[in-house]
Parts: sequence; C-alpha cells; structure tokens
Amino acid sequence: MACSVLLHLILLTASASAFPGTKPGCQKSCGEVSIPYPFGVGNDTNCFRDSEFQLVCNISYHPPVLMYGDFPVLNISLLSGEMTLQTKISEDCYYENGKNSADDSSIKTLSDAFRFSYTRNKFTAIGCDTIAFMSDTELATIFGSGCISWCLNTENGERSCDGKGCCQTEIPKNLETFYMSLDSFSNYTNSRWKYTRCSYAFLADKEWFKFLESDIWNFSKRIESNFDKVPRTQVVVDWAIRNQSCKEAQKVDPASYACKENSHCSDSSNGPGYLCYCKYGYQGNPYLPGGCQDINECINNPCKGLCTNTPGSYNCSCPPGTHANGTTDCISSSGKKIPMERLMLGISLVLLFLVIASSWMYWGMQKRKLTELKRKFFQQNGGLLLQQKLSSHECSLERTKIFTSEELKAATNNYEESRIIGQGGYGVVYKGILPDNKVIAIKKAKVIESSQIDQFINEVLILSQINHRNVVKLLGCCLETELPLLVYEFISNGTLFEHIHDEQYKCSVSWANRLRIASETAGALAYLHSAASPPIIHRDVKSANILLDENNIAKVSDFGASRLVPLDQVQLTTLIQGTLGYLDPEYLLTSQLTEKSDVYSFGVILVELLTGMKALSFDRPEEERNLAMYFVSSMKENRMMEILEDRVAHEGNIEQLREVARLAKRCLQLNGDERPTMKEVAMELEGLRRLQMHPWIEQNPEETEYLLGDPSKSSINGGTECDDSLRNEVILSLEGGR
Ligand SMILES: *[C@@H]1O[C@H](CO)[C@@H](O)[C@H](O)[C@H]1NC(C)=O
Ligand SMILES: *[C@@H]1O[C@H](CO)[C@@H](O)[C@H](O)[C@H]1NC(C)=O
Ligand SMILES: *[C@@H]1O[C@H](CO)[C@@H](O)[C@H](O)[C@H]1NC(C)=O
Ligand SMILES: *[C@@H]1O[C@H](CO)[C@@H](O)[C@H](O)[C@H]1NC(C)=O
Ligand SMILES: *[C@@H]1O[C@H](CO)[C@@H](O)[C@H](O)[C@H]1NC(C)=O
Ligand SMILES: *[C@@H]1O[C@H](CO)[C@@H](O)[C@H](O)[C@H]1NC(C)=O
Ligand SMILES: *[C@@H]1O[C@H](CO)[C@@H](O)[C@H](O)[C@H]1NC(C)=O
Ligand SMILES: *[C@@H]1O[C@H](CO)[C@@H](O)[C@H](O)[C@H]1NC(C)=O
Repeated sequence: MACSVLLHLILLTASASAFPGTKPGCQKSCGEVSIPYPFGVGNDTNCFRDSEFQLVCNISYHPPVLMYGDFPVLNISLLSGEMTLQTKISEDCYYENGKNSADDSSIKTLSDAFRFSYTRNKFTAIGCDTIAFMSDTELATIFGSGCISWCLNTENGERSCDGKGCCQTEIPKNLETFYMSLDSFSNYTNSRWKYTRCSYAFLADKEWFKFLESDIWNFSKRIESNFDKVPRTQVVVDWAIRNQSCKEAQKVDPASYACKENSHCSDSSNGPGYLCYCKYGYQGNPYLPGGCQDINECINNPCKGLCTNTPGSYNCSCPPGTHANGTTDCISSSGKKIPMERLMLGISLVLLFLVIASSWMYWGMQKRKLTELKRKFFQQNGGLLLQQKLSSHECSLERTKIFTSEELKAATNNYEESRIIGQGGYGVVYKGILPDNKVIAIKKAKVIESSQIDQFINEVLILSQINHRNVVKLLGCCLETELPLLVYEFISNGTLFEHIHDEQYKCSVSWANRLRIASETAGALAYLHSAASPPIIHRDVKSANILLDENNIAKVSDFGASRLVPLDQVQLTTLIQGTLGYLDPEYLLTSQLTEKSDVYSFGVILVELLTGMKALSFDRPEEERNLAMYFVSSMKENRMMEILEDRVAHEGNIEQLREVARLAKRCLQLNGDERPTMKEVAMELEGLRRLQMHPWIEQNPEETEYLLGDPSKSSINGGTECDDSLRNEVILSLEGGR
C-alpha cells in the first residue's frame, strides 16, 4: 500500500508540471516558466482569476521573462501554492573617503494574495562589520528583528552561515511587506575594510543560498541574474485565494469558490484564504472546470491481479476461481483467504518450472549437437573405414579397441596437466588409467590432413596387428575428437638413452643386458622389415626411441616418421626425417629410403652401447663429434679397445666385443648395399648372446617370428605399472601403395 501511495505522489508531481492547466486561448508559458490558472498574462481578464494573479511577460528579453511587479518569476507551483521570485539585495559599501549608502535599505511589497514564505526563506546578512535590520515597514509597525555579523579574519570554502561573516534569522508568518537596512556595527571604526568593503542583506530561499567564504568579497557578482546582470536572490512567496476560508467560501459565495469538481479545499497556512487540490486519484488544475482528471492507475499496474481503472481509483480483480477483497487480497471460492505472498509463490513456482523445463530442453539440444559433432569427427577421422576393416579382421578386433572420448577423458582426468608424460613435435602424450586400473599412454596427435586419414587408418590397422614383444603395443584409438587419439600400453622404465647417458641410471645396464637389449631391438626391427608387406621402415631408430619396461625389456616406439615401403620400389622422399647422429649418410645424399637406413641407425646404437658415448656431442673434439665416424676411424686404426666404456671392457669377453664392434662397423658402411640386413644383424646378435649365456644350447631365435594377425603367439610382459618415463609414442604416417 505504502508503495502505491508513493507511486501516486510521483505521478501527481510529474503530471503537475506536464499539465500547467491554462485556460483555452491563454498564454501557457513565458520563457521557460509555465503559467497555470489562476495566474495569467495579458489584458484578457478571462485568463486569470483576478488582477492579483495578473502577471506580465516581458518579451524584450531573450528568452522572455515573466514579471510579478518588479520581480522576475522563476516558478509557479499549484501543488505547494508557492511562487519563486527574484529580489534585489541591499548593499552597504565603505570607502575611506566616506560610505556609499546607495542601496543600504529597501522595501519589498507584495500584493494581497501573496506572503513571504516563512518556511522557505531566511533573512541573511553578509559582512565583517555588519548590523542588518528587518521589519514589516520602515517604522516597524508589526515587527522588527535582525542579525549582526563580525569578523577579523576569514577561512576559505563553503561553511554554514554562523555569524562569522554571515548571519541568518527566521522571518515571521503572514508577511506582505518586507523592509531591511544595513549599517556598520562599529560606526566604521573597525578596520573591516581591510578584509571586506561591503555588507549585504537579503531575504532568500534557504535551499538556494549556500554561504561561501568568497561571498564576503564578491557576493553580488555571484548572484547576478542571467537576463539583466543585476544581483538578485531567490525568494519563495506563498499565494492563496485570499480573504475567505474554505468554509466561508463554500457557504457564503459559491459562485466565486475557486475549487472546481473532483477537488477539495485546504486553508492556507500563511495568511487567510485557501488553496485547492485535486482529489486522490485525480490530477490536473483544480482551479479550472474539468481541470482535475482521473489518473489511470493501471498504467503502472498496482494490482497483483488484473487492474481496471475507475474514476478516482482502480479495481483489482483476482485470478479465476478467486475474487477480490480490497486491493491486496484475493478470496478463493471456498472463502479461504489467499495472501498475495502465496499467489506470488505460485507464480514463482510456475516460472521456476518453465525455466527448468527450458534449460533441460536446451541441455538436451546441446547434448545432441555434441553427439553429432562427435559422429562427424568419427567419420572424418575414418572411423567407419576402420570399423569396416576391423570387422574383416575378426581375430584382431579384441585387440584394437575404439575408445570413446568420455572414456579417455575420464582416464586422463580431463587431460590434466600433471598427466602429461611427454611432449614433442608429434603431439602430447598423457598417462591414463582405465577403470580396470590398467595404465595406458594416450597420444593426442597434432593436425592430420584429411588426405592422410586413409593412411592413418592403415597405420592403426597394421600397428594394431604388430604383435611383437619388443614393439610398443597399440591398444586402440579414439576418433570422436577433432584430432585422433592413440592409446598405447604404458612402458614404465624410461628410455635406453637415459639408461646409457643419464647420471641417475649411469652404469645400470650390464654388458649382458646391453647385448640383450640390442638383440631384442634388432629382432623388432627385423620383424618390422620383414613381417609386414610392404615393409615398415622405422626411420627414426635411436636409443631415445627404445623404451624399457620394468624388466628392462626393450620396446621400440615412436613410429612418427615411419613409412611403409613397397618392396619393388625405391622410396623417394622429399622430406628428410630422422635424428642427427643416427641419420644414414646415404639417405642424406640420395633421399632413397630403404630398410638399410634403419640398419645404419641401429649400428649407431650398437656403438653407443659399446662406448657409452652419445651419438652426437659437441662437447667432444671435432673429429670425435659424430660417434659413428669416430668409431669407424678408431676401428681402422685398431684402437677400438680404447674407446669402449670401462664397464663394457671389463665385463665383456674380448672376442665377443670384437664381434659386436665388427657388426657395428658393417652396419655403418656408407654404402647401404654393403650393410647386413636387419634379420642378419638380429640373428648374429642373438647367436653371440646365447653363446655367452649357454654356449652349449642351440635355440631358435623366437623373436624373429612374424605374427601379423596372430596375437596368440605374442607374449607381452605386464609393463603397465606407473612411471612417467614413457616419452615417445606413435602415429605412423604410412604411405602405403605409392
Ligand atoms: C493592456 O491594457 C493597457 C491599459 O489598460 C494598454 O495600455 C495595453 O496596450 C493593453 N495591452 C494589450 C496587449 O492589449
Ligand atoms: C520590459 O523590460 C524593459 C527593461 O527592463 C522595460 O524597459 C520595459 O518597460 C518592460 N516591458 C514591460 C511590458 O514591462
Ligand atoms: C518549480 O517548482 C516545482 C515544485 O516545487 C519543482 O518541481 C520544479 O522543479 C520547479 N521548477 C523550476 C524551474 O524551478
Ligand atoms: C561616527 O563617526 C563619525 C566620524 O567618524 C562621527 O562624526 C559620528 O558622530 C559617529 N557616530 C556615532 C553614532 O558614533
Ligand atoms: C572577486 O571577483 C573578481 C572578478 O570576478 C576577481 O577578480 C577577484 O579575485 C574576486 N575576489 C576575491 C577575493 O575572490
Ligand atoms: C480582505 O479583508 C481585509 C480585511 O479583513 C480587507 O481590508 C480587504 O479589502 C479584503 N480584500 C479582499 C480582496 O476582499
Ligand atoms: C470494482 O469491482 C467490484 C467487483 O469486482 C464491483 O462490484 C465494483 O462495482 C467495481 N467498482 C467500480 C468503480 O467499477
Ligand atoms: C474481506 O476480508 C475481510 C477480512 O479478511 C472480511 O472481513 C471481509 O468480509 C471480506 N470482504 C469480502 C467482500 O469478502
């Protein structure tokens, strides 16, 4: 309720200035000041109530100025019964040769309808040796009062009018004339002119006048009026329809009663007479016939239900099944009172339901979109082709799993940064844990061109069927993401490179183990070269790409640069790939890609195992930088024993070491044709190894069996425990069929 009352007040105030309520054919405003009836300008007596309210609009100014006698009018308000005027001030300036008393006293006279507002105005004097006097007339027949202001020094800024440089006093009610005068408090004996030369006195709206310290010197400048540059203060006067109270006017003289229909009367608080106001629910000019007009309250619906505007009020109706009781409550048909709060609660619940329902629908649509996107990626990444091929290789179906993106997301804890175990040009490798606690490595590839998709599928198919205990196993892939993800078994114990060269592993691998690792690696490479058709050339054989599991079993990894090379063709590649120090010099010269490139790189690994030196090191003298070349020249000079690692020289059988060194040298032949095949290398190493271990037993080299499409023969040793050392994983980019 309080709210709607407030609303009405706002509406009333707003509309009062919007509708000044002037009689038809009369001037509505002068300058920016509107002229509501009973006020009017011009000679037409119809335009104002009586001569009391006749104002003059002086059009010789621009904009025109509304005048009440000598006083410019700034505002006329019907609601408060006030009119704001501008009045001149009194000024008393002192000079050493005598005082200038030109404006030191003045009288302002209002006509009968007006009184100086005792609530809005205060009598004010400014000065440092000032006595200001006010009264109704010069002779002070009704009252006399005043104030004194004295000061010797001054401060700056705005402060209250407190007697130091400025004094103020109230004025009485019912004041029609106002006289004021100024004088010196000390007969000018105070040297006040050192501080200020002038005193000022005036009546002013206390809201308008705010005392500033600078007023002591320059007050008149500050308050000059816009239109004629005369110093003036704002004074509020109360007006009323004078000489009769409401009662008298209604009884004695109904014809001249000023308040028209839908209005009520209120006696003036300043002098005799009354004012008119529109009734509650109406707005406009109560002094004009039909001036008070109904307010359409329903524009800003104050009801909780439906609003119907009625003259002077409005009717609220309630939702169906209920009926109104007053304006705030609704009664249900059963007679039970339903408080508005509960109605609001009901509406809120309905809204809440709608919000939930729509967000659920939105969520559903988003989910469908996501599913569609996944399907798109799946197809774009060759998922259908893969599925088709996989179903034709029934035996391998169980091994190559197509993971969903959710599974992998969960396994890597939404690709958490702490799960990253390797990063490189090829992509990022994450460690993942499947719900059955199996540890996996997930490689997120970098951009794959759509033209490579078929080859990507081939790779996945072939790699998934490479089932060799010394090749890192591809478990599956995920094609639902924009870039395909590959899933590998997790190899826990770091790379061969780390084991040979890193301080933390230094000397951890005995010569016997080195020989075994070499043999295992050679077996894996031989398998790649011979098992698949066309053969797979690794192209980036290096110690860093040989992973070791917890039993230090070698696992060849990182097929990122690998190629399928048709047997009857010489592969020409435009892009040289590989790692410096391991790179086949013949391949560098001719760009011809053959299995023998891998043989050369493997030779470098053999030398690495023998010498414990890095394939390429700029810490060494220039002729020793490239390990392969250094080794070959040492062999020629018969200094082989000198460059062996101490541990190796100590542990190894001299003859066996010589054999391995000779094998390495053959692998490092510049002419690829003179190098042995990987299979020969593997068999030779295996022979050397077995001879060392059990010189009396002869065995088949099992690792060189090829198992394409036959998982039953494979034996993978666990190798899924946690470690962060898996660095290099695979995307094969095969160029089969070219
Ligand atoms: C108004 O009346 C006065 C005298 O009664 C006359 O001097 C003046 O010209 C009139 N003005 C107009 C606008 O009629
Ligand atoms: C308008 O103001 C000017 C300047 O104060 C004055 O000379 C003139 O008489 C005024 N006109 C009327 C109609 O009061
Ligand atoms: C006139 O007075 C009304 C009511 O006091 C006020 O809202 C309005 O702002 C005033 N207009 C001017 C120009 O002073
Ligand atoms: C004020 O001072 C003047 C001269 O300075 C003197 O003539 C006059 O009598 C004094 N008036 C009063 C009331 O002291
Ligand atoms: C008074 O006003 C004049 C011009 O407006 C200005 O030059 C002067 O500095 C002012 N004096 C003081 C004391 O503010
Ligand atoms: C108002 O009443 C006073 C005395 O009560 C009288 O002198 C004056 O003429 C009256 N004025 C009007 C406009 O009736
Ligand atoms: C307001 O509505 C009630 C019932 O809803 C009706 O009886 C009454 O006449 C209405 N008042 C007006 C002014 O329409
Ligand atoms: C409105 O409600 C009040 C109190 O809840 C009750 O006294 C009054 O009879 C009701 N009026 C109608 C018209 O139901």
